[in-house]
Amino acid sequence: MINKLDLDIFIETGRIMIRDGIVIAPWLTWGKGEHRISFTLFTDIRTWSRHFAAQHWRPDWTMDIFGGQPIHVERAAEACREAVSSTAVYLCHLELGTLTVTEEMVSVAQRLTENFVEKVGLKDFVTFYLLTNMYEDLQVLHYYGSIHVNDFLQGDIHRPWGTNTLTSEFKQAVASRLVTVRDGFVELTHYGNEVLQSITRVFVESGFLKFRSRLVRLNNFNNLEDVESLTNILIPSSASIRKSLLELSEIQAGSHVLELGCGTGAYTFDAGLFQAVGPNGYLVVTDPSTGMLSTVRRKRDDYHAEWVHVVRAQAERLPFPDNMFDSVTGCGFLHLTNIHEALREIARVLKPGGTFSTFYPLHFPVRSDFFLEWFEPLLSLESKASHPDVLPDSDTVPAAMKSLFEIIRLDEFEHEIHYTSPQTVVEFFVEVTNLFEEKTAILPWRARQDLIQRLIQRGEEICRKYQPESLVERHPAQMIRAVVKSK
Ligand SMILES: C[S@@+](CC[C@H](N)C(=O)[O-])C[C@H]1O[C@@H](n2cnc3c(N)ncnc32)[C@H](O)[C@@H]1O
Repeated sequence: MINKLDLDIFIETGRIMIRDGIVIAPWLTWGKGEHRISFTLFTDIRTWSRHFAAQHWRPDWTMDIFGGQPIHVERAAEACREAVSSTAVYLCHLELGTLTVTEEMVSVAQRLTENFVEKVGLKDFVTFYLLTNMYEDLQVLHYYGSIHVNDFLQGDIHRPWGTNTLTSEFKQAVASRLVTVRDGFVELTHYGNEVLQSITRVFVESGFLKFRSRLVRLNNFNNLEDVESLTNILIPSSASIRKSLLELSEIQAGSHVLELGCGTGAYTFDAGLFQAVGPNGYLVVTDPSTGMLSTVRRKRDDYHAEWVHVVRAQAERLPFPDNMFDSVTGCGFLHLTNIHEALREIARVLKPGGTFSTFYPLHFPVRSDFFLEWFEPLLSLESKASHPDVLPDSDTVPAAMKSLFEIIRLDEFEHEIHYTSPQTVVEFFVEVTNLFEEKTAILPWRARQDLIQRLIQRGEEICRKYQPESLVERHPAQMIRAVVKSK
């Protein structure tokens, strides 16, 4: 029997972890097959983690749940090493916009880990870490039904970032009767399945799975150098949408303006936002993706637009003082953020009476034959959501704005998405923006990669089968202009 109460404390541990900016996401450190931390720095992290764990660990520790396995000191060190490494990579993404970890970020990550451990205790932290591994180990069995013992031990399918084989995890999982071996294949026991459901509940309720998906998105955008050419293929009306948004924004020449999610500057330059602000004004353009910002800087220099300032930032954490801008605007970014956090930040940096205007796509009903056929492997994955769950409903943003803004204008309209380039469609919707977040969150590592390849292949077949004109869908979107309420 699994005692619900025993697990509930880990919901709180997960919440504190997210709040404190501690990350456990080894695939983030691992990058696209190459380690993002230099050998020397990684050796330092390893040494630090060993010392830190040895200081706080007690030999009588056992996991108080799922069979009470002993918690070895190596495991405690591994948890600390993983937290420091992933947190350092995360900080580099967020604070510096680089993928390469610096020494400074490692010391910040160590300090954050120390503070976090002081709050929740090393034992609970290590247990949470072990739950994340257990989740990957059990989820892969749940997803595939069974996998060969050798695949399980090597971890290639579900934990390809590991450097050691998973022998001790395997032995413990067998000893705790979470898994059983039949004809050389590992499978979940009934109890193992119950444990998986319980861990999933902890990860959903603490927000850990959602946080992980957000990291996937952040990581993918950071690796993407050009979002503009992708969106222009998918949404040929992008340029006219940006122009309409600029008109709606009513930007005053000479004012202080902040642009969020600028990408490669299609709205900033091509649509003419920088000209609307003009040389007597001040335009700060931001995006979390460093690759894209370098293009924006180049465009700024080409246009000699000295009043345009390029700053790395994500909408949920704006590095600007309160009451700094007359207007905040941005095209097609809000749906990729935590909408509540982003709106709170936007309201904070706006001057009293300042306005916010934006465009975002809404969640669309999945109904056309070609779409259902093409995306069947994705749509048939089990999850509560049958639609692209990342996109907002028509009342999501207006409702989230209610306490902070007064809506001046809200236009709902349809825009065309062209599904004629399978590679672009899958890369953008599934890999980068991860629109079906809830469905893909449960996928083991390899299954996610396989799904993306399969969808591209299916898309190529669909494009041969259907006429290009029938591969166009009209999806709903909103454009909104709002004024910040007095603060
Ligand atoms: C669809 S693109 C739009 C780019 C540009 N505004 C345009 O019109 O072409 C979305 C942009 O939002 C950015 N983005 C992703 N997550 C974000 C976040 N949390 N805060 C701000 N921008 C974000 C991405 O890096 C990407 O450049």
